[in-house]
Amino acid sequence: MTDEVENQRGLLISFEGAEGSGKTTQIARLKDRFEALGHKVVLIREPGGTDVGEEIRDLLKHNDTGDTIFPETELLLFAASRAQLVREKILPALEAGKVILCDRYLDSTTVYQGVARQLSEDPVTYINEFAVGNLMPDLTVVLDLEPELSMQRVKERNSGKPDRMERENIEFYRAVREGYLLLVRSLPERFSVFDGSLSKEAIELAIWNEINQRFFDD
Ligand code: TYD
Repeated sequence: MTDEVENQRGLLISFEGAEGSGKTTQIARLKDRFEALGHKVVLIREPGGTDVGEEIRDLLKHNDTGDTIFPETELLLFAASRAQLVREKILPALEAGKVILCDRYLDSTTVYQGVARQLSEDPVTYINEFAVGNLMPDLTVVLDLEPELSMQRVKERNSGKPDRMERENIEFYRAVREGYLLLVRSLPERFSVFDGSLSKEAIELAIWNEINQRFFDD
């Protein structure tokens, strides 16, 4: 099957959670820890991460033309960006034995477009799997945060205008949070959830312990 992607030798770890949940900080810290042990690390940002993907990212985030982006369009654009990313960046890095840390991956689509925008589950699942060629993360770290806190952090970090997603209301963020927690409960072997309201240091250590337990302990 040409759609399927196989033979991964490195490690693929994705980070998920609402805006302001601390993904970027934790990814940077984890990168340092892996590098201190001599691993080669690749950081990936979604949507984007390739030239094609960055154009899609701009389209999705800013869309200042005033045109509506329908949920179906949104789903296909995120999937298109990821399809490119998997084949152009992630697979070659995995095959070279690198550790890949993804700031969002296909679970963002399941949660934002599927749960929060309420698109039907079957097409979302199918399109997601098609886009990644069934390349699933070895581990998905979810940073869980109260929606109120998430929105407050976004406001604080945003000196300028909030982007399209960040203008969504609290109900949207509640749905996002619930969507992630549902995934964590249904796929505990792939997901680990961490309390995003704890200190950066505490979260960093908890994630590192989890990774060591899963992949490096005998
Ligand atoms: P970004 O600035 O990367 O947000 P964050 O720092 O919180 O990750 O913007 C990505 C936005 O796109 C974010 O609001 C989540 C949303 N998104 C989806 O709706 N579906 C997806 O598949 C992905 C990857 C992101």
